[in-house]
Amino acid sequence: MSEEPQLEARLESQEEFEPPASFVEQANVTDESIYREFEENWPEAWERAAELLDWEQDWDQVLDDSDEPFYEWFVDGKLNACANCVDRHLGERADQTAIEWVGEPGGTRTYSYAELHEEVNAAAAALRELGVEEDDVVTMYMPMIPELPIAMLACARIGAPHSVVFAGFSANALAERMQAADSEVLVTCDGYYRRGDALDHLSKAREGLEQVEDVTTVVAKRLGADAPSAVEDEHVYESVVDPHRGTEVDPVTRDAEDMLFLMYTSGTTGEPKGVKHTTGGYLSYTAWTSRAVLDIDPEDNYWCAADIGWITGHSYIVYGPLALGTTTLMYEGTPDYPEKDRLWELVDSYDVTQLYTAPTAIRAFMKWGTEYPERHDLSTLRLLGTVGEPINPRAWRWYHEHIGDGSCPIVDTWWQTETGGMMITTLPGIGTMKPGTAGPPLPGISADVVDTDGTTVDPGEGGYLTVDRPWPGMLRTLYRNDERFLAEYWQEHSDTENDNWVYSPEDGAKIDDDGYITILGRVDDVVNVSGHRIGTMEVESAIVGVEGVAEAAVVGADDDVKGQAIYAYAITEAGQTETDEFRREVIAGVEDAIGPFARPAEVVFTPELPKTRSGKIMRRLLADIADGEELGNTSTLRNPGVVEDIQQRVQERETE
Ligand code: WT7
Repeated sequence: MSEEPQLEARLESQEEFEPPASFVEQANVTDESIYREFEENWPEAWERAAELLDWEQDWDQVLDDSDEPFYEWFVDGKLNACANCVDRHLGERADQTAIEWVGEPGGTRTYSYAELHEEVNAAAAALRELGVEEDDVVTMYMPMIPELPIAMLACARIGAPHSVVFAGFSANALAERMQAADSEVLVTCDGYYRRGDALDHLSKAREGLEQVEDVTTVVAKRLGADAPSAVEDEHVYESVVDPHRGTEVDPVTRDAEDMLFLMYTSGTTGEPKGVKHTTGGYLSYTAWTSRAVLDIDPEDNYWCAADIGWITGHSYIVYGPLALGTTTLMYEGTPDYPEKDRLWELVDSYDVTQLYTAPTAIRAFMKWGTEYPERHDLSTLRLLGTVGEPINPRAWRWYHEHIGDGSCPIVDTWWQTETGGMMITTLPGIGTMKPGTAGPPLPGISADVVDTDGTTVDPGEGGYLTVDRPWPGMLRTLYRNDERFLAEYWQEHSDTENDNWVYSPEDGAKIDDDGYITILGRVDDVVNVSGHRIGTMEVESAIVGVEGVAEAAVVGADDDVKGQAIYAYAITEAGQTETDEFRREVIAGVEDAIGPFARPAEVVFTPELPKTRSGKIMRRLLADIADGEELGNTSTLRNPGVVEDIQQRVQERETE
């Protein structure tokens, strides 16, 4: 640990930054009255967001809350998301760049809005020809290549919800998600480049498909190996798309509440949750927040350095920015290849105006040193953003000074897969910034920090973050599982008898006298590694799936760069020796079940796990042990004697 928490906390309370005048002068939102307007005119004020889009038919009602918490937004409104992200820009901006794509080994692909329109239409026609009908779920298992957003938009065009599975997921995880969604069409690719290597992706996809029946697959050729596929129902992207070039496919009229996409995310149980987002509410919300928070204008060269396989990329690489008709940059590779200045080189050469990235990346840049950004002209940047995990004040200041040259506001945006878009952040042209603190809830968002009884905590006290009013971008349910939707998000803090519905994000937080919210991290069994949400139960079930493991407990341990790292404790079965080789098998088990990004940073073999008298594993205690912290009273454990033994084993691992 390099940070001194107390010192950090003190600096945090001392420091405040005002939005720079140069930014305010041109900002999209500068009038503080917007907060009052939303307050006094709620929910109608949300029409402002919907009005950013083109509707085929206007809504009759802004919000229908007759069946809480199954809210409906912009009721009876009709629109098509693809038409809003592509077609409607053709008039004014046909030749403007919509997507600027940069490959890792160099090489770029630029799509003007007119070209994007052509690509998306051809892909939509191809999907239709392959049998995709309205409301069929199409899965995409792809890295950061242009065919991914093209396929997403093509699905939106024909009213087929997409379910994008991050390319780092394993074959098994892909199969599990396809089965859960009953998805029979997969768009994937042959491979991609990562740190100079050409990675095979198709073998992983094919391996996953062995577990799913009757799937038609489309394979984009990123690596270009041209061996025709011998696999049944597998088609090369070009061979199915090219014949449709020049074809126009009418955008299907969708209801505001029709599903735009599904995104699987991790929760407390081992089974991933299919978060359902809609066409009208989600698109209005992402467009609105892209405009108000990221300050996006059509003239911008905007860059969100996330992966489209996660919600950040859906909302703020694809849907929000394209709905506003801007230029969105997409980069295939990692920030340290070929050199650690790759991001800054791209900011320089593409005159990037806004950069949106994650604290874990910023902490890595900090570690690499200022020489890398100093090599480049970053003066086109006017706004910086972060998302995914709390940003420590030291990283905030570094980002502000060394990337923003002290003249860019930073928006620290708290939100989740479930919220669809940003919820808590300062507005960059209005709000005083406090490093380490996300900020107040956005206009129209009502959030609070409460104790277990639902009472608002005093300023500075820790509690549970809650959201007590619906918003257009919210998830509507968990796919085919209303019960779990109610149980996971609405049970804990709602007072259903009095019809007072409160959404639980499962984050700890505190609030200050100005109403600024600081996020303290997850309160459920979810670990946030480099901004990726990983359920400890998922990792535990992967580990106990390895032959020779009897029991496992997984916790998040502090990590200087990643925020948290996965720390696993495992009890071996009798007869299984605790060798390094077996440790590698355990790690491989996690890679197979979930993917390499969920790989435990450490596996400690232990004879027992600390348990309460009722038999519950004390994960908090295991996390403290992993962090080398002093432990409180352990006498309430059923087996207090085990603690010292585990501590010793952890120390042994660390000195190894
Ligand atoms: C969890 C959601 C939102 C897209 C990326 C992650 C954490 C997110 C912040 C922030 C502190 C943050 C929360 C949240 N988180 N943004 N600005 N400050 N924590 O999406 O996988 O759905 O994870 O990420 O813990 O609950 P996700």
